[in-house]
Amino acid sequence: MALIEVKNLSVTIKQKKILEDINFAVEDGEVTVLVGPSGSGKTTLLRTLNLLQQPAAGTIQIGQSTVDGRKLNKKSTRALRAESTMVFQQFNLFKNMTVIENVMAPLLLNKLAKWDEAHAVAEERLREVGLLEFADKYPSSLSGGQQQRVSIARAIAVKPAVVLLDEPTSALDPELVGSVLKTILELAKQHITMVIVTHEMDFARQIGNQIIFLEKGQIVHKGTPDEILSDQGPERVHNFLNSVSAAY
Ligand SMILES: Nc1ncnc2c1ncn2[C@@H]1O[C@H](COP(=O)(O)OP(=O)(O)OP(=O)(O)O)[C@@H](O)[C@H]1O
Ligand SMILES: [Mg+2]
Repeated sequence: MALIEVKNLSVTIKQKKILEDINFAVEDGEVTVLVGPSGSGKTTLLRTLNLLQQPAAGTIQIGQSTVDGRKLNKKSTRALRAESTMVFQQFNLFKNMTVIENVMAPLLLNKLAKWDEAHAVAEERLREVGLLEFADKYPSSLSGGQQQRVSIARAIAVKPAVVLLDEPTSALDPELVGSVLKTILELAKQHITMVIVTHEMDFARQIGNQIIFLEKGQIVHKGTPDEILSDQGPERVHNFLNSVSAAY
Protein backbone atom coordinates (compact mmCIF):
# COMPACT_ATOMS: atom_id res chain seq x y z
CA MET A 1 0.00 0.00 0.00
CA ALA A 2 1.25 3.48 -0.84
CA LEU A 3 1.93 5.77 2.11
CA ILE A 4 0.11 8.63 0.41
CA GLU A 5 -2.83 8.11 -1.92
CA VAL A 6 -4.71 11.06 -3.36
CA LYS A 7 -7.82 10.36 -5.44
CA ASN A 8 -9.96 12.73 -7.49
CA LEU A 9 -8.94 15.67 -5.33
CA SER A 10 -10.40 19.07 -6.15
CA VAL A 11 -9.95 22.38 -4.36
CA THR A 12 -12.07 25.46 -4.84
CA ILE A 13 -11.13 28.84 -3.38
CA LYS A 14 -13.61 31.70 -3.58
CA GLN A 15 -15.63 29.79 -6.17
CA LYS A 16 -12.58 29.34 -8.37
CA LYS A 17 -11.31 25.85 -9.17
CA ILE A 18 -7.69 25.80 -8.05
CA LEU A 19 -7.03 22.06 -8.22
CA GLU A 20 -8.98 19.64 -10.35
CA ASP A 21 -9.10 15.85 -10.28
CA ILE A 22 -5.66 15.30 -8.77
CA ASN A 23 -4.59 11.66 -8.54
CA PHE A 24 -1.25 10.35 -7.35
CA ALA A 25 0.42 8.01 -4.89
CA VAL A 26 3.69 8.17 -2.98
CA GLU A 27 5.35 4.97 -1.82
CA ASP A 28 6.69 4.69 1.71
CA GLY A 29 10.20 6.16 1.94
CA GLU A 30 10.05 7.78 -1.48
CA VAL A 31 10.24 11.40 -2.60
CA THR A 32 7.81 13.12 -4.94
CA VAL A 33 8.77 16.48 -6.43
CA LEU A 34 6.09 18.92 -7.60
CA VAL A 35 7.09 21.23 -10.42
CA GLY A 36 5.15 23.62 -12.57
CA PRO A 37 4.65 27.28 -13.42
CA SER A 38 3.79 29.94 -10.88
CA GLY A 39 0.13 29.75 -9.93
CA SER A 40 -0.25 26.14 -11.08
CA GLY A 41 -1.35 25.03 -7.61
CA LYS A 42 1.78 23.49 -6.06
CA THR A 43 1.51 25.28 -2.72
CA THR A 44 -2.23 24.69 -2.60
CA LEU A 45 -1.67 20.96 -3.13
CA LEU A 46 0.83 20.76 -0.25
CA ARG A 47 -1.46 22.80 1.99
CA THR A 48 -4.35 20.52 1.15
CA LEU A 49 -2.33 17.40 2.04
CA ASN A 50 -1.90 18.97 5.48
CA LEU A 51 -5.55 20.18 5.49
CA LEU A 52 -4.49 23.79 5.92
CA GLN A 53 -6.68 24.07 2.85
CA GLN A 54 -9.96 22.21 2.72
CA PRO A 55 -10.65 19.99 -0.29
CA ALA A 56 -13.93 20.37 -2.18
CA ALA A 57 -13.97 16.73 -3.27
CA GLY A 58 -11.85 13.61 -3.39
CA THR A 59 -9.97 11.58 -0.81
CA ILE A 60 -6.57 11.90 0.81
CA GLN A 61 -5.00 8.94 2.56
CA ILE A 62 -1.75 9.25 4.49
CA GLY A 63 -0.63 6.24 6.47
CA GLN A 64 -3.61 4.90 8.38
CA SER A 65 -5.66 8.07 8.05
CA THR A 66 -8.08 8.87 5.26
CA VAL A 67 -10.29 11.90 4.75
CA ASP A 68 -13.09 12.42 2.31
CA GLY A 69 -13.18 16.03 1.12
CA ARG A 70 -16.96 16.07 1.17
CA LYS A 71 -17.22 14.67 4.70
CA LEU A 72 -14.55 16.32 6.81
CA ASN A 73 -14.92 16.12 10.55
CA LYS A 74 -12.75 17.22 13.44
CA LYS A 75 -11.52 13.75 14.28
CA SER A 76 -10.44 12.73 10.78
CA THR A 77 -8.94 16.19 10.15
CA ARG A 78 -6.84 15.96 13.29
CA ALA A 79 -5.75 12.41 12.48
CA LEU A 80 -4.65 13.27 8.94
CA ARG A 81 -2.88 16.45 10.06
CA ALA A 82 -0.83 14.45 12.55
CA GLU A 83 0.63 12.42 9.68
CA SER A 84 2.58 15.27 8.09
CA THR A 85 4.56 18.41 8.89
CA MET A 86 5.28 21.31 6.59
CA VAL A 87 8.47 23.26 5.95
CA PHE A 88 7.78 26.66 4.44
CA GLN A 89 9.76 29.01 2.26
CA GLN A 90 9.84 31.48 5.17
CA PHE A 91 11.03 29.34 8.01
CA ASN A 92 9.15 31.11 10.84
CA LEU A 93 11.29 30.12 13.80
CA PHE A 94 10.22 31.44 17.19
CA LYS A 95 12.58 34.40 17.68
CA ASN A 96 12.36 34.46 21.45
CA MET A 97 13.34 30.79 21.79
CA THR A 98 16.76 29.24 21.37
CA VAL A 99 17.46 26.88 18.49
CA ILE A 100 16.93 23.78 20.61
CA GLU A 101 13.76 25.21 22.18
CA ASN A 102 12.41 25.71 18.66
CA VAL A 103 13.00 22.05 17.85
CA MET A 104 11.52 20.92 21.17
CA ALA A 105 8.43 23.09 20.79
CA PRO A 106 6.23 20.77 18.69
CA LEU A 107 7.00 17.85 21.00
CA LEU A 108 6.11 19.83 24.12
CA LEU A 109 3.14 21.74 22.67
CA ASN A 110 1.58 18.53 21.38
CA LYS A 111 2.41 16.77 24.65
CA LEU A 112 4.33 14.08 22.78
CA ALA A 113 7.24 14.09 25.20
CA LYS A 114 8.34 15.35 28.60
CA TRP A 115 11.06 18.02 28.74
CA ASP A 116 14.05 15.64 29.16
CA GLU A 117 12.96 13.41 26.32
CA ALA A 118 12.11 16.35 24.06
CA HIS A 119 15.55 17.80 24.74
CA ALA A 120 17.25 14.51 23.84
CA VAL A 121 15.23 14.17 20.62
CA ALA A 122 15.94 17.78 19.66
CA GLU A 123 19.68 17.25 20.21
CA GLU A 124 19.57 14.23 17.93
CA ARG A 125 17.70 16.13 15.21
CA LEU A 126 20.10 19.09 15.44
CA ARG A 127 23.01 16.69 15.10
CA GLU A 128 21.38 15.25 11.96
CA VAL A 129 21.16 18.68 10.35
CA GLY A 130 24.68 19.54 11.50
CA LEU A 131 23.72 22.30 13.93
CA LEU A 132 24.09 20.85 17.40
CA GLU A 133 26.74 23.43 18.27
CA PHE A 134 24.12 26.17 17.75
CA ALA A 135 21.59 24.60 20.16
CA ASP A 136 21.67 27.43 22.69
CA LYS A 137 21.91 30.31 20.22
CA TYR A 138 18.95 32.41 19.13
CA PRO A 139 17.74 32.11 15.50
CA SER A 140 18.72 35.70 14.70
CA SER A 141 22.41 34.82 15.09
CA LEU A 142 22.18 32.09 12.42
CA SER A 143 22.38 32.43 8.65
CA GLY A 144 19.20 31.94 6.61
CA GLY A 145 20.38 28.50 5.51
CA GLN A 146 21.07 27.47 9.08
CA GLN A 147 17.67 28.75 10.18
CA GLN A 148 16.01 26.72 7.45
CA ARG A 149 17.91 23.62 8.63
CA VAL A 150 16.60 24.27 12.16
CA SER A 151 13.09 24.44 10.78
CA ILE A 152 13.71 21.10 9.05
CA ALA A 153 14.96 19.65 12.35
CA ARG A 154 11.77 20.97 13.96
CA ALA A 155 9.62 19.38 11.25
CA ILE A 156 11.15 15.94 11.79
CA ALA A 157 11.17 16.19 15.61
CA VAL A 158 7.67 14.74 15.82
CA LYS A 159 8.58 11.87 13.47
CA PRO A 160 5.81 12.55 10.99
CA ALA A 161 5.01 9.94 8.35
CA VAL A 162 5.48 12.62 5.69
CA VAL A 163 7.42 15.88 5.43
CA LEU A 164 6.01 18.47 3.00
CA LEU A 165 8.48 21.12 1.81
CA ASP A 166 7.38 24.21 -0.11
CA GLU A 167 10.32 25.79 -1.95
CA PRO A 168 12.59 25.36 1.08
CA THR A 169 15.52 27.18 -0.53
CA SER A 170 13.84 29.94 -2.52
CA ALA A 171 14.17 32.57 0.22
CA LEU A 172 17.90 31.94 0.62
CA ASP A 173 20.93 33.65 -0.82
CA PRO A 174 22.46 31.42 -3.51
CA GLU A 175 25.49 30.44 -1.45
CA LEU A 176 23.24 29.09 1.33
CA VAL A 177 21.10 26.87 -0.89
CA GLY A 178 23.55 23.95 -1.13
CA SER A 179 23.69 23.17 2.58
CA VAL A 180 19.89 23.03 2.86
CA LEU A 181 19.56 20.79 -0.20
CA LYS A 182 22.25 18.53 1.25
CA THR A 183 20.30 18.28 4.52
CA ILE A 184 17.16 17.29 2.62
CA LEU A 185 19.11 14.69 0.60
CA GLU A 186 20.34 13.21 3.89
CA LEU A 187 16.73 12.88 5.08
CA ALA A 188 15.82 11.13 1.84
CA LYS A 189 18.60 8.61 2.49
CA GLN A 190 16.92 7.83 5.81
CA HIS A 191 13.79 6.95 3.82
CA ILE A 192 11.69 9.81 5.13
CA THR A 193 8.73 10.17 2.79
CA MET A 194 8.62 13.66 1.31
CA VAL A 195 6.68 15.80 -1.11
CA ILE A 196 8.79 18.76 -2.21
CA VAL A 197 8.06 21.82 -4.32
CA THR A 198 11.28 23.13 -5.83
CA HIS A 199 12.68 24.96 -8.81
CA GLU A 200 16.10 23.37 -8.25
CA MET A 201 15.98 20.93 -11.14
CA ASP A 202 19.31 19.14 -10.57
CA PHE A 203 18.17 18.53 -7.02
CA ALA A 204 14.76 17.32 -8.27
CA ARG A 205 16.48 14.82 -10.58
CA GLN A 206 18.75 13.64 -7.80
CA ILE A 207 16.19 13.26 -5.02
CA GLY A 208 12.93 12.50 -6.82
CA ASN A 209 11.52 9.02 -7.22
CA GLN A 210 8.54 10.65 -8.89
CA ILE A 211 8.11 14.01 -10.62
CA ILE A 212 4.67 15.55 -10.95
CA PHE A 213 4.20 18.42 -13.38
CA LEU A 214 1.24 20.63 -12.53
CA GLU A 215 -0.32 23.20 -14.79
CA LYS A 216 -3.48 25.23 -14.21
CA GLY A 217 -4.46 23.06 -11.26
CA GLN A 218 -4.12 19.74 -13.05
CA ILE A 219 -1.47 17.06 -13.22
CA VAL A 220 -0.37 17.06 -16.84
CA HIS A 221 2.68 14.79 -16.52
CA LYS A 222 3.83 12.31 -13.91
CA GLY A 223 6.70 9.83 -13.94
CA THR A 224 10.31 9.18 -13.03
CA PRO A 225 12.86 12.01 -13.35
CA ASP A 226 14.15 10.32 -16.52
CA GLU A 227 10.68 10.21 -18.05
CA ILE A 228 9.76 13.78 -17.18
CA LEU A 229 12.92 15.85 -16.84
CA SER A 230 15.28 14.39 -19.45
CA ASP A 231 15.73 15.74 -22.96
CA GLN A 232 13.35 13.01 -24.14
CA GLY A 233 10.65 14.20 -21.71
CA PRO A 234 7.40 15.94 -22.68
CA GLU A 235 7.82 19.11 -24.75
CA ARG A 236 5.73 21.20 -22.35
CA VAL A 237 8.03 20.29 -19.45
CA HIS A 238 11.06 20.92 -21.59
CA ASN A 239 9.90 24.46 -22.33
CA PHE A 240 9.19 25.02 -18.66
CA LEU A 241 12.67 23.80 -17.69
CA ASN A 242 14.23 26.21 -20.17
CA SER A 243 12.29 29.11 -18.68
CA VAL A 244 13.31 28.06 -15.15
CA SER A 245 16.99 27.82 -15.99
CA ALA A 246 16.77 31.25 -17.62
CA ALA A 247 15.17 32.71 -14.48
CA TYR A 248 17.59 31.24 -11.89
N1 LIG B 1 -6.22 32.15 -0.47
C1 LIG B 1 -6.36 32.31 -1.80
N2 LIG B 1 -7.29 33.15 -2.30
C2 LIG B 1 -7.46 33.30 -3.63
N3 LIG B 1 -6.75 32.64 -4.54
C3 LIG B 1 -5.81 31.80 -4.11
C4 LIG B 1 -5.56 31.57 -2.72
N4 LIG B 1 -4.56 30.66 -2.62
C5 LIG B 1 -4.21 30.35 -3.87
N5 LIG B 1 -4.95 31.02 -4.76
C6 LIG B 1 -4.84 30.91 -6.25
O1 LIG B 1 -4.62 29.55 -6.56
C7 LIG B 1 -3.73 29.41 -7.66
C8 LIG B 1 -2.61 28.49 -7.26
O2 LIG B 1 -1.82 29.13 -6.28
P1 LIG B 1 -0.58 28.40 -5.61
O3 LIG B 1 -0.03 29.35 -4.61
O4 LIG B 1 -0.98 27.07 -5.14
O5 LIG B 1 0.42 28.25 -6.85
P2 LIG B 1 1.94 27.79 -6.91
O6 LIG B 1 2.05 26.77 -7.98
O7 LIG B 1 2.41 27.43 -5.54
O8 LIG B 1 2.68 29.13 -7.41
P3 LIG B 1 4.14 29.69 -7.07
O9 LIG B 1 5.11 28.89 -7.92
O10 LIG B 1 4.09 31.12 -7.51
O11 LIG B 1 4.39 29.54 -5.61
C9 LIG B 1 -3.29 30.81 -8.02
O12 LIG B 1 -4.07 31.23 -9.12
C10 LIG B 1 -3.62 31.62 -6.78
O13 LIG B 1 -3.90 32.95 -7.12
MG1 LIG C 1 3.87 28.21 -4.27
